[in-house]
Amino acid sequence: MKVSVIGGGGLVGSMAAFALQMGKIASDISIIDANSKVAEGVALDLLQGSSLIADQRIIAEDMSGVANSDVVVITAGLRRKPEESRLDLINRNVDLFMALLGDAKKAGLRKDSYLVVVSNPVDILTHLAVKHSGLDWRRVIGLGTQLDTARFCSHIARRILVPPTQVRALLLGEHGDSMVPLWSSASVGGLPLDQWPGWNPQAASETFEETKTAGAKMISLKGGSGFAVGVSIREVVESILLDSRKILPVSTLQQGLYDIRDVCLSVPTVVGAGGARKQIEVPLSSKEKIGLQNSARILKGIIEQVEARLAKGPMATPIAPVDPKPPISAPAEVVAHTPDANAKPIGHPPIEMRTQPKRPGWNRT
Ligand SMILES: NC(=O)c1ccc[n+]([C@@H]2O[C@H](COP(=O)([O-])OP(=O)(O)OC[C@H]3O[C@@H](n4cnc5c(N)ncnc54)[C@H](O)[C@@H]3O)[C@@H](O)[C@H]2O)c1
Repeated sequence: MKVSVIGGGGLVGSMAAFALQMGKIASDISIIDANSKVAEGVALDLLQGSSLIADQRIIAEDMSGVANSDVVVITAGLRRKPEESRLDLINRNVDLFMALLGDAKKAGLRKDSYLVVVSNPVDILTHLAVKHSGLDWRRVIGLGTQLDTARFCSHIARRILVPPTQVRALLLGEHGDSMVPLWSSASVGGLPLDQWPGWNPQAASETFEETKTAGAKMISLKGGSGFAVGVSIREVVESILLDSRKILPVSTLQQGLYDIRDVCLSVPTVVGAGGARKQIEVPLSSKEKIGLQNSARILKGIIEQVEARLAKGPMATPIAPVDPKPPISAPAEVVAHTPDANAKPIGHPPIEMRTQPKRPGWNRT
Protein backbone atom coordinates (compact mmCIF):
# COMPACT_ATOMS: atom_id res chain seq x y z
CA MET A 1 0.00 0.00 0.00
CA LYS A 2 1.38 3.39 -0.99
CA VAL A 3 1.20 6.46 1.23
CA SER A 4 2.06 9.88 -0.22
CA VAL A 5 2.80 12.82 2.00
CA ILE A 6 2.15 16.18 0.36
CA GLY A 7 4.25 18.65 2.29
CA GLY A 8 6.54 15.75 3.19
CA GLY A 9 9.57 18.02 3.07
CA GLY A 10 8.32 20.01 6.08
CA LEU A 11 8.56 19.28 9.78
CA VAL A 12 5.20 17.53 10.18
CA GLY A 13 5.33 15.72 6.84
CA SER A 14 8.86 14.40 7.34
CA MET A 15 8.04 13.23 10.87
CA ALA A 16 4.92 11.49 9.58
CA ALA A 17 6.97 9.79 6.88
CA PHE A 18 9.53 8.64 9.47
CA ALA A 19 6.78 7.35 11.77
CA LEU A 20 5.29 5.46 8.82
CA GLN A 21 8.69 4.03 7.99
CA MET A 22 9.12 2.85 11.58
CA GLY A 23 5.60 1.39 11.49
CA LYS A 24 6.63 -0.89 8.60
CA ILE A 25 3.08 -1.11 7.27
CA ALA A 26 3.13 0.96 4.07
CA SER A 27 4.96 -0.69 1.17
CA ASP A 28 5.66 2.65 -0.53
CA ILE A 29 6.23 6.08 0.98
CA SER A 30 6.28 9.07 -1.33
CA ILE A 31 7.48 12.53 -0.37
CA ILE A 32 5.86 15.34 -2.37
CA ASP A 33 6.72 18.95 -1.67
CA ALA A 34 6.77 22.31 -3.45
CA ASN A 35 10.38 22.45 -2.36
CA SER A 36 11.64 19.61 -4.53
CA LYS A 37 15.17 19.77 -3.14
CA VAL A 38 14.09 19.26 0.44
CA ALA A 39 11.66 16.51 -0.65
CA GLU A 40 14.53 14.71 -2.31
CA GLY A 41 16.63 15.16 0.82
CA VAL A 42 13.93 13.76 3.13
CA ALA A 43 13.31 10.77 0.86
CA LEU A 44 17.03 10.01 0.61
CA ASP A 45 17.53 10.38 4.36
CA LEU A 46 14.71 7.92 5.03
CA LEU A 47 15.94 5.58 2.33
CA GLN A 48 19.44 5.53 3.78
CA GLY A 49 18.09 4.08 7.05
CA SER A 50 15.80 1.60 5.36
CA SER A 51 18.30 -1.28 5.52
CA LEU A 52 17.92 -1.10 9.32
CA ILE A 53 14.14 -0.76 9.36
CA ALA A 54 12.02 -2.33 6.65
CA ASP A 55 11.80 -3.16 2.97
CA GLN A 56 9.82 -0.18 1.79
CA ARG A 57 10.13 1.81 -1.42
CA ILE A 58 10.77 5.42 -0.47
CA ILE A 59 10.84 8.08 -3.17
CA ALA A 60 10.44 11.79 -3.74
CA GLU A 61 8.19 12.63 -6.63
CA ASP A 62 5.91 15.28 -8.04
CA MET A 63 2.15 15.52 -7.66
CA SER A 64 1.64 12.75 -10.23
CA GLY A 65 2.56 10.39 -7.39
CA VAL A 66 -0.93 10.74 -5.90
CA ALA A 67 -2.43 8.85 -8.85
CA ASN A 68 -1.29 5.46 -7.56
CA SER A 69 -1.46 6.31 -3.86
CA ASP A 70 -3.78 4.49 -1.49
CA VAL A 71 -3.50 7.16 1.18
CA VAL A 72 -2.66 10.82 0.56
CA VAL A 73 -1.63 12.70 3.69
CA ILE A 74 -1.72 16.48 3.34
CA THR A 75 0.66 18.35 5.62
CA ALA A 76 1.50 21.14 3.19
CA GLY A 77 0.72 24.46 4.67
CA LEU A 78 1.90 27.47 6.47
CA ARG A 79 2.76 27.23 10.11
CA ARG A 80 1.12 29.20 12.86
CA LYS A 81 3.13 32.16 14.03
CA PRO A 82 3.62 32.47 17.81
CA GLU A 83 0.43 34.04 19.30
CA GLU A 84 -1.53 33.27 16.13
CA SER A 85 -4.63 31.08 16.61
CA ARG A 86 -5.17 28.14 14.29
CA LEU A 87 -8.20 29.81 12.85
CA ASP A 88 -6.15 32.93 12.02
CA LEU A 89 -4.30 30.76 9.56
CA ILE A 90 -7.39 30.41 7.43
CA ASN A 91 -6.78 33.19 4.97
CA ARG A 92 -3.25 32.05 4.31
CA ASN A 93 -3.99 28.35 4.12
CA VAL A 94 -7.37 27.99 2.39
CA ASP A 95 -6.15 29.27 -0.98
CA LEU A 96 -3.03 27.12 -0.78
CA PHE A 97 -5.12 24.07 0.14
CA MET A 98 -7.71 24.58 -2.61
CA ALA A 99 -4.98 24.95 -5.23
CA LEU A 100 -3.27 21.84 -3.92
CA LEU A 101 -6.52 19.86 -3.98
CA GLY A 102 -7.04 20.98 -7.59
CA ASP A 103 -3.50 19.87 -8.45
CA ALA A 104 -4.06 16.48 -6.79
CA LYS A 105 -7.31 15.93 -8.72
CA LYS A 106 -5.64 16.92 -11.99
CA ALA A 107 -2.86 14.47 -11.19
CA GLY A 108 -5.42 11.66 -10.91
CA LEU A 109 -6.43 11.41 -7.23
CA ARG A 110 -8.39 8.14 -7.15
CA LYS A 111 -11.92 7.89 -5.79
CA ASP A 112 -10.91 4.82 -3.82
CA SER A 113 -7.97 6.51 -2.11
CA TYR A 114 -8.06 8.14 1.32
CA LEU A 115 -7.25 11.73 2.15
CA VAL A 116 -5.81 12.40 5.58
CA VAL A 117 -5.82 16.14 6.19
CA VAL A 118 -3.34 17.50 8.71
CA SER A 119 -2.71 21.11 7.63
CA ASN A 120 -4.37 23.75 9.77
CA PRO A 121 -7.03 24.83 10.39
CA VAL A 122 -7.60 21.13 10.05
CA ASP A 123 -11.37 20.97 10.61
CA ILE A 124 -12.02 23.69 8.03
CA LEU A 125 -9.66 22.17 5.46
CA THR A 126 -11.18 18.72 6.03
CA HIS A 127 -14.59 20.21 5.32
CA LEU A 128 -13.27 21.78 2.10
CA ALA A 129 -11.72 18.45 1.12
CA VAL A 130 -15.06 16.65 1.68
CA LYS A 131 -16.85 19.21 -0.50
CA HIS A 132 -14.28 19.57 -3.26
CA SER A 133 -12.14 16.42 -3.50
CA GLY A 134 -14.79 14.26 -5.16
CA LEU A 135 -14.12 11.50 -2.58
CA ASP A 136 -16.84 9.96 -0.44
CA TRP A 137 -16.93 11.79 2.93
CA ARG A 138 -15.89 8.61 4.75
CA ARG A 139 -12.58 8.63 2.88
CA VAL A 140 -11.70 12.15 3.97
CA ILE A 141 -10.33 12.15 7.50
CA GLY A 142 -8.87 15.13 9.31
CA LEU A 143 -6.34 14.56 12.06
CA GLY A 144 -8.71 16.51 14.29
CA THR A 145 -8.04 16.09 18.00
CA GLN A 146 -5.95 12.94 17.55
CA LEU A 147 -2.73 14.79 18.46
CA ASP A 148 -4.45 16.75 21.24
CA THR A 149 -5.75 13.49 22.70
CA ALA A 150 -2.29 11.92 22.60
CA ARG A 151 -0.87 14.97 24.37
CA PHE A 152 -3.71 14.97 26.89
CA CYS A 153 -3.11 11.34 27.93
CA SER A 154 0.65 11.91 28.11
CA HIS A 155 0.27 15.05 30.23
CA ILE A 156 -2.20 13.36 32.62
CA ALA A 157 0.23 10.43 33.01
CA ARG A 158 3.16 12.73 33.74
CA ARG A 159 1.14 14.55 36.40
CA ILE A 160 -0.01 11.45 38.30
CA LEU A 161 3.17 9.46 37.65
CA VAL A 162 1.67 6.52 35.78
CA PRO A 163 2.77 4.98 32.47
CA PRO A 164 1.33 7.06 29.58
CA THR A 165 -0.16 4.03 27.83
CA GLN A 166 -2.33 3.38 30.92
CA VAL A 167 -4.27 6.63 30.48
CA ARG A 168 -7.39 6.84 28.34
CA ALA A 169 -8.89 10.32 27.97
CA LEU A 170 -10.46 11.99 24.96
CA LEU A 171 -10.54 15.49 23.58
CA LEU A 172 -13.29 16.12 21.04
CA GLY A 173 -14.60 18.97 18.90
CA GLU A 174 -12.38 21.52 17.21
CA HIS A 175 -8.62 21.08 16.89
CA GLY A 176 -8.28 24.50 18.44
CA ASP A 177 -9.29 26.69 21.31
CA SER A 178 -12.81 25.25 21.71
CA MET A 179 -11.68 21.59 22.04
CA VAL A 180 -13.63 19.68 24.69
CA PRO A 181 -12.11 17.41 27.38
CA LEU A 182 -14.24 14.35 28.16
CA TRP A 183 -13.55 14.09 31.87
CA SER A 184 -16.61 11.89 32.33
CA SER A 185 -14.90 8.93 30.63
CA ALA A 186 -11.22 9.54 31.47
CA SER A 187 -9.56 6.52 33.05
CA VAL A 188 -6.23 5.15 34.30
CA GLY A 189 -5.66 1.42 34.02
CA GLY A 190 -9.41 0.96 33.66
CA LEU A 191 -10.20 3.01 36.82
CA PRO A 192 -11.98 6.37 36.81
CA LEU A 193 -9.46 9.22 36.65
CA ASP A 194 -11.56 11.49 38.87
CA GLN A 195 -11.15 8.99 41.74
CA TRP A 196 -7.40 8.58 41.28
CA PRO A 197 -5.44 9.53 44.44
CA GLY A 198 -4.25 13.11 44.14
CA TRP A 199 -6.37 13.99 41.14
CA ASN A 200 -8.51 17.07 41.71
CA PRO A 201 -10.23 19.87 39.75
CA GLN A 202 -7.13 22.04 39.81
CA ALA A 203 -4.99 19.24 38.36
CA ALA A 204 -7.67 18.72 35.70
CA SER A 205 -7.84 22.36 34.71
CA GLU A 206 -4.05 22.78 34.63
CA THR A 207 -3.59 19.62 32.56
CA PHE A 208 -6.23 20.68 30.08
CA GLU A 209 -4.67 24.15 29.78
CA GLU A 210 -1.25 22.59 29.28
CA THR A 211 -2.70 20.46 26.47
CA LYS A 212 -4.63 23.30 24.83
CA THR A 213 -1.54 25.47 24.67
CA ALA A 214 0.83 22.62 23.70
CA GLY A 215 0.83 23.54 19.99
CA ALA A 216 1.77 27.15 20.69
CA LYS A 217 4.45 25.98 23.13
CA MET A 218 5.97 23.70 20.48
CA ILE A 219 6.04 26.62 18.05
CA SER A 220 7.80 28.88 20.53
CA LEU A 221 10.26 26.20 21.72
CA LYS A 222 11.23 24.48 18.47
CA GLY A 223 9.26 25.92 15.58
CA GLY A 224 6.40 23.41 15.67
CA SER A 225 5.17 19.98 16.62
CA GLY A 226 6.99 17.08 14.98
CA PHE A 227 7.42 13.74 16.75
CA ALA A 228 4.02 13.62 18.44
CA VAL A 229 2.12 14.70 15.35
CA GLY A 230 4.07 12.20 13.26
CA VAL A 231 3.01 9.24 15.38
CA SER A 232 -0.54 10.60 15.60
CA ILE A 233 -0.74 10.59 11.80
CA ARG A 234 0.68 7.07 11.71
CA GLU A 235 -2.05 5.86 14.05
CA VAL A 236 -4.73 7.05 11.62
CA VAL A 237 -3.02 5.84 8.44
CA GLU A 238 -2.26 2.41 9.86
CA SER A 239 -5.78 1.97 11.20
CA ILE A 240 -7.00 2.52 7.63
CA LEU A 241 -4.40 0.30 5.95
CA LEU A 242 -4.73 -2.55 8.47
CA ASP A 243 -8.50 -2.14 8.84
CA SER A 244 -7.83 -2.07 12.59
CA ARG A 245 -11.11 -0.26 13.31
CA LYS A 246 -9.54 1.74 16.12
CA ILE A 247 -11.79 4.29 17.73
CA LEU A 248 -10.01 7.56 17.09
CA PRO A 249 -10.93 11.20 17.70
CA VAL A 250 -10.58 12.24 14.07
CA SER A 251 -12.34 15.01 12.21
CA THR A 252 -15.06 13.86 9.81
CA LEU A 253 -18.22 15.29 8.30
CA GLN A 254 -20.85 15.11 11.00
CA GLN A 255 -24.15 13.48 10.16
CA GLY A 256 -26.36 14.53 13.09
CA LEU A 257 -24.90 12.75 16.13
CA TYR A 258 -24.74 15.06 19.15
CA ASP A 259 -27.21 17.23 17.13
CA ILE A 260 -24.34 18.32 14.89
CA ARG A 261 -24.28 18.09 11.11
CA ASP A 262 -22.65 19.67 8.04
CA VAL A 263 -19.41 20.46 9.82
CA CYS A 264 -16.18 18.52 10.26
CA LEU A 265 -15.00 18.02 13.82
CA SER A 266 -13.79 15.21 16.03
CA VAL A 267 -16.07 12.64 17.62
CA PRO A 268 -15.05 9.05 18.46
CA THR A 269 -14.83 7.39 15.05
CA VAL A 270 -14.18 3.81 13.98
CA VAL A 271 -11.33 4.05 11.44
CA GLY A 272 -10.59 1.17 9.11
CA ALA A 273 -11.10 -0.06 5.54
CA GLY A 274 -13.45 2.42 3.87
CA GLY A 275 -12.21 5.20 6.16
CA ALA A 276 -14.59 6.53 8.80
CA ARG A 277 -16.69 3.38 9.21
CA LYS A 278 -18.81 4.66 12.07
CA GLN A 279 -19.17 7.76 14.20
CA ILE A 280 -20.01 6.99 17.80
CA GLU A 281 -22.40 8.86 20.05
CA VAL A 282 -22.10 8.25 23.78
CA PRO A 283 -23.90 10.07 26.58
CA LEU A 284 -21.96 13.22 27.53
CA SER A 285 -22.33 15.47 30.55
CA SER A 286 -24.34 18.57 29.66
CA LYS A 287 -21.15 20.69 29.90
CA GLU A 288 -19.39 18.39 27.44
CA LYS A 289 -22.30 18.39 24.99
CA ILE A 290 -22.60 22.19 25.12
CA GLY A 291 -18.84 22.41 24.55
CA LEU A 292 -19.05 20.15 21.50
CA GLN A 293 -21.91 22.13 20.05
CA ASN A 294 -19.98 25.33 20.69
CA SER A 295 -17.08 23.91 18.64
CA ALA A 296 -19.55 23.16 15.85
CA ARG A 297 -21.00 26.69 16.02
CA ILE A 298 -17.54 28.26 15.76
CA LEU A 299 -16.47 26.04 12.88
CA LYS A 300 -19.73 26.57 10.99
CA GLY A 301 -19.31 30.33 11.23
CA ILE A 302 -15.85 30.03 9.70
CA ILE A 303 -16.95 27.59 7.00
CA GLU A 304 -19.75 29.90 5.88
CA GLN A 305 -17.30 32.76 5.51
CA VAL A 306 -14.77 30.56 3.74
CA GLU A 307 -17.35 29.25 1.27
CA ALA A 308 -18.68 32.75 0.59
CA ARG A 309 -15.16 34.01 0.06
CA LEU A 310 -14.27 31.11 -2.26
CA ALA A 311 -17.40 31.75 -4.32
CA LYS A 312 -15.99 35.22 -5.04
CA GLY A 313 -12.59 33.83 -5.99
CA PRO A 314 -9.43 33.25 -3.95
CA MET A 315 -7.92 35.91 -1.76
CA ALA A 316 -11.05 38.07 -1.49
CA THR A 317 -12.13 39.55 1.86
CA PRO A 318 -10.23 38.46 4.99
CA ILE A 319 -12.11 36.18 7.38
CA ALA A 320 -13.43 37.83 10.55
CA PRO A 321 -12.74 35.94 13.78
CA VAL A 322 -15.69 34.11 15.34
CA ASP A 323 -16.54 34.71 19.00
CA PRO A 324 -15.12 31.60 20.73
CA LYS A 325 -17.70 31.74 23.56
CA PRO A 326 -21.28 30.41 23.76
CA PRO A 327 -24.26 31.19 23.57
CA ILE A 328 -25.03 28.51 21.09
CA SER A 329 -27.05 29.77 18.19
CA ALA A 330 -29.13 27.68 15.82
CA PRO A 331 -26.73 26.05 13.37
CA ALA A 332 -26.60 27.82 10.03
CA GLU A 333 -26.69 25.85 6.80
CA VAL A 334 -23.45 25.36 4.91
CA VAL A 335 -23.66 27.19 1.60
CA ALA A 336 -22.86 24.93 -1.34
CA HIS A 337 -19.89 26.19 -3.31
CA THR A 338 -19.65 26.22 -7.09
CA PRO A 339 -15.99 26.55 -8.05
CA ASP A 340 -15.20 29.63 -10.13
CA ALA A 341 -13.78 28.40 -13.43
CA ASN A 342 -11.90 31.70 -13.90
CA ALA A 343 -10.35 31.68 -10.44
CA LYS A 344 -6.57 31.82 -10.62
CA PRO A 345 -4.92 29.07 -8.57
CA ILE A 346 -1.91 29.92 -6.46
CA GLY A 347 -0.45 26.41 -6.45
CA HIS A 348 3.20 25.63 -6.83
CA PRO A 349 4.82 24.85 -10.17
CA PRO A 350 5.16 21.15 -10.98
CA ILE A 351 8.05 19.46 -9.20
CA GLU A 352 10.48 17.98 -11.70
CA MET A 353 12.39 15.27 -9.93
CA ARG A 354 12.38 11.73 -8.67
CA THR A 355 14.96 9.73 -6.80
CA GLN A 356 13.97 6.44 -8.40
CA PRO A 357 13.59 5.52 -12.06
CA LYS A 358 10.20 6.06 -13.67
CA ARG A 359 7.80 3.15 -13.61
CA PRO A 360 6.38 2.00 -16.94
CA GLY A 361 3.30 4.06 -17.73
CA TRP A 362 4.29 6.90 -15.39
CA ASN A 363 3.69 10.38 -16.72
CA ARG A 364 3.86 13.82 -15.30
CA THR A 365 0.66 15.49 -16.45
N1 LIG B 1 -3.54 18.90 12.67
C1 LIG B 1 -2.55 18.93 13.56
O1 LIG B 1 -2.67 18.33 14.65
C2 LIG B 1 -1.29 19.67 13.23
C3 LIG B 1 -0.20 19.64 14.10
C4 LIG B 1 0.95 20.33 13.76
C5 LIG B 1 1.00 21.09 12.59
N2 LIG B 1 -0.10 21.11 11.77
C6 LIG B 1 -0.10 21.87 10.52
O2 LIG B 1 0.68 21.18 9.55
C7 LIG B 1 1.09 22.10 8.56
C8 LIG B 1 2.58 21.93 8.28
O3 LIG B 1 3.34 22.31 9.42
P1 LIG B 1 4.93 22.17 9.37
O4 LIG B 1 5.41 22.52 10.73
O5 LIG B 1 5.33 20.88 8.76
O6 LIG B 1 5.31 23.33 8.36
P2 LIG B 1 6.62 23.37 7.43
O7 LIG B 1 6.73 24.78 6.98
O8 LIG B 1 7.77 22.74 8.12
O9 LIG B 1 6.24 22.43 6.21
C9 LIG B 1 5.27 22.75 5.27
C10 LIG B 1 5.74 22.15 3.97
O10 LIG B 1 4.70 22.33 2.99
C11 LIG B 1 5.34 22.58 1.75
N3 LIG B 1 4.38 23.20 0.84
C12 LIG B 1 3.86 24.45 0.89
N4 LIG B 1 3.00 24.61 -0.13
C13 LIG B 1 2.97 23.46 -0.82
C14 LIG B 1 2.26 23.00 -1.96
N5 LIG B 1 1.42 23.79 -2.60
N6 LIG B 1 2.51 21.74 -2.40
C15 LIG B 1 3.39 20.93 -1.77
N7 LIG B 1 4.07 21.31 -0.68
C16 LIG B 1 3.87 22.55 -0.21
C17 LIG B 1 6.51 23.49 2.11
O11 LIG B 1 7.49 23.51 1.09
C18 LIG B 1 6.99 22.83 3.41
O12 LIG B 1 8.00 21.86 3.16
C19 LIG B 1 0.70 23.49 9.08
O13 LIG B 1 -0.52 23.88 8.50
C20 LIG B 1 0.52 23.24 10.57
O14 LIG B 1 -0.33 24.19 11.17
C21 LIG B 1 -1.23 20.41 12.06
